Amino acid sequence: MNAIRTEVPASNPALRHAIYGGDIFLTAPNAASERLSNAARNILKHHVGEDLRHAHERYSDEEFFERIGKVRHELFMESQYHDMLFELIESFGFDRTDVAFDPARIRVIKHDGHQNPRAKAVYYAHRDTWYAHPQQLITWWVPLDDLREEETFVFYPEFYNSVVPNNSEIFDYSDWVRDGWELKIGWQNREAGVKAEYPGVTDEVVINQEVGFSCEASQNLLFSGAQFHQTRKQALGTTRYSLDFRIVHLGDLEAGFGAPNVDNRSQGSALKDYIRAS
Ligand SMILES: [Fe+2]
Repeated sequence: MNAIRTEVPASNPALRHAIYGGDIFLTAPNAASERLSNAARNILKHHVGEDLRHAHERYSDEEFFERIGKVRHELFMESQYHDMLFELIESFGFDRTDVAFDPARIRVIKHDGHQNPRAKAVYYAHRDTWYAHPQQLITWWVPLDDLREEETFVFYPEFYNSVVPNNSEIFDYSDWVRDGWELKIGWQNREAGVKAEYPGVTDEVVINQEVGFSCEASQNLLFSGAQFHQTRKQALGTTRYSLDFRIVHLGDLEAGFGAPNVDNRSQGSALKDYIRAS
């Protein structure tokens, strides 16, 4: 895999197969992704004001975190947003009874956010699977604005099939959710980012190939949760907002058909808390 693909295969099995093989898809906005991103934008505006891209200028770090926490909680927990995710998933040819998903999280990458020690883990290079997700994981990412390449993230595809030295074994899903879902979603405890241990790279990794992208609001970016990737640091004066959620095709899970596992040693399984159609 080198370039990001812009058209999905005609059949859903072919799409899943390509994703497990390392292909990345960035496709046009559709009615379902627009509905979802509009809903997220409206909740955000309600909590942080109309001009979202400069909202960080209006609040202290603490107050901004608190306000975003409310948005995060609402989007993750409320069933109307779960329904929107089902509709989006179906618009890509998945049958809702065949999948389970981890609901949408709002990601907020502030101007100069990497200077904040509380946010350090946000910028770690990682595979999503290191957070106790199965190898069938498909990550679905939807930006809320048109974004320049400098404010999105990068993939390091050369590591899709090769080992990255990492400490994913420190991640145990049951520890993560023991005291509620605060660490998982991050809506209350501002200190979590300093105290909690997040899986990351443990030794120097020489990177020869980097695949970045710019995008339009409400596009759909789909990739395997086993992709090694990293959020870019940005000091562009704007805050970047995106939504992401994770899906697992239950038939593929049962069949053991998914991305290769080259180095994920995380423990437990996030799957038990995924949302299902039933
Ligand atoms: Fe990620």
